[in-house]
Amino acid sequence: MEKVLDLISKEVSDAFEAAGYDRSLGKCGISNRPDLCEYQCNGAMAGAKQYHKAPFMIADEVCEKLSGNEMFEKVESVKPGFLNLNLSKDFVRTYIVRMLHEKKFGVTLPGHEPTIVLDYGGPNVAKPLHVGHLRSAVIGESLKRILKYAGNKVVGDVHLGDWGLQMGLIITELKERKPDLVYFDDSYTGSYPKEAPFTLSELEEIYPAASGKSKEDENFKARALEATKKLQDGNRGYRALWHHILNVSVTDLKKNYKNLNVSFDLWWGESTVHDIIPGMVDMMKQGGYAHESQGALVVDVAEESDSKELPPCIILKSDGAALYATTDLATIQKRMDEYHPQAIYYVADKRQSLHFTQVFRTAHKTKLAMPETDLQFVGFGTMNGKDGKPFKTRDGGVPRLEKLIAEIDEQMYARIKEGNAEIGDDEAKKTAHQVALSAIKYGDLSNQPSKDYIFDIDKFTSFEGDTGPYLLYTIVRIKSILAKYEAKTGKKYKEAKLDVAQSDNEKKLNLQLTRFSEAVESAAKELMPNRICAYIYALANDFNSFYHETRILAEEDERKQESYIALLYITLRVMETGIDLLGFDAPERM
Ligand code: ARG
Repeated sequence: MEKVLDLISKEVSDAFEAAGYDRSLGKCGISNRPDLCEYQCNGAMAGAKQYHKAPFMIADEVCEKLSGNEMFEKVESVKPGFLNLNLSKDFVRTYIVRMLHEKKFGVTLPGHEPTIVLDYGGPNVAKPLHVGHLRSAVIGESLKRILKYAGNKVVGDVHLGDWGLQMGLIITELKERKPDLVYFDDSYTGSYPKEAPFTLSELEEIYPAASGKSKEDENFKARALEATKKLQDGNRGYRALWHHILNVSVTDLKKNYKNLNVSFDLWWGESTVHDIIPGMVDMMKQGGYAHESQGALVVDVAEESDSKELPPCIILKSDGAALYATTDLATIQKRMDEYHPQAIYYVADKRQSLHFTQVFRTAHKTKLAMPETDLQFVGFGTMNGKDGKPFKTRDGGVPRLEKLIAEIDEQMYARIKEGNAEIGDDEAKKTAHQVALSAIKYGDLSNQPSKDYIFDIDKFTSFEGDTGPYLLYTIVRIKSILAKYEAKTGKKYKEAKLDVAQSDNEKKLNLQLTRFSEAVESAAKELMPNRICAYIYALANDFNSFYHETRILAEEDERKQESYIALLYITLRVMETGIDLLGFDAPERM
């Protein structure tokens, strides 16, 4: 559906043309002086030079051509040569009604459905999720929803870290603790037990212990490296043990992501592509892309236009071992083979930027990806504490995500119980979690992904200001008015018809509603959920301004009241769609 701004620009361009000027001068923008007008055109200023004429003269002539145009309620030429425009209320009403009949409130959908693989989450097996993984999950889930809404087929892949040295470390430590386990008996040929020989909490304790040891004990580290190789080479016992580690860990990861309202279509990991690495490496050698450098196999990725020197991408280390980049490249091959995506986007810490530049260039150079395959890295900044340093618990540790969320849930539970004496425990718990998620997610998403941000939970959970709970509160307020309307009048709010706006605030809310598709399209194009946040926040503010000066339920003019109700219901739908794109939802009351 054509955007309001484009429709206005078209009309104004026609007027420029009719007055004898270049139509390109008619491009309009949202007014930067909302106290004076809604939209503006500065074309006469730009045309002054070209036509050797005072800008206000041009503006006057164009203004003349627009007089009587039904799209506008006001067209004014003001010195030194601006055109100030206000839309007619009827035009706005008609536009909104049309928008409601369109798919996705008028978002322009691509003719076909492009496939995008979205790589986010990126947890590592046997390590509990910590706050560092929060951003990837939160941003990735929102991008998945936004891209889907914008008409793409999106395949979300968690890309588990399940294959590297960390596995060798765990196995080595386990062997030290329980050497008699059948998994370590190379002569054993029978089948292995179904039960894992450890619990989740044991596993979570084993990894850091082993990791610590490997930093102090060279010998231990050497054994861990050897175990990693043995595992990757297919040792039966080690593979069986690895399956146990994977199962225990993934079961827990799934539970945690579910609690965050985050889901994946694929649970592929680094291990998934292990078997296709040799073939890929051969291809790179035979194609003349990879060469040996100091014993390692590398692909040069530097380009002349680089301002900084870009080191080559290492495919195999001198001992023949594959690296992080190798698994990422093989994963591109597999994704291309199975999904033929137009694009692959990665959501990971921005400190991995060099890695992804190397991987993307190698993928294009070696033709693992097509020249037109859009490979993009969405690098996010650090989540800091109030002290401006990476977020830590009070005792200085890296907080576990599970614990952090449980704490916020509890705080919200207390607040909700306090505010609603009659609310039952189950509903209060569910609502508390919804509010907590809105606080955490919105606190993150309202920032541009690449920026660091301060995780300030007191601010994020506030019911006022630019926060998730404020949005929920606004939605709950609308729902409550709609319910009261039905109870009072016996009429269905879903059937209420929208009339033209009367007051200024009502008009402002109307105008804001027409801008939804722009917000979605720009968020999808720039891969920036913060665009949706800014839009929904502005919409909530416009709604609240309207609400505070309007008597809705007490309105006696039925036709007027019905139109208010229609406006509320549309606002509700747009707001609920918006927060769904951000990855959270609203309760019935709070
Ligand atoms: N597991 C990695 C980490 O914790 C993140 C993975 C990001 N995705 C990728 N395809 N490399 O740092």
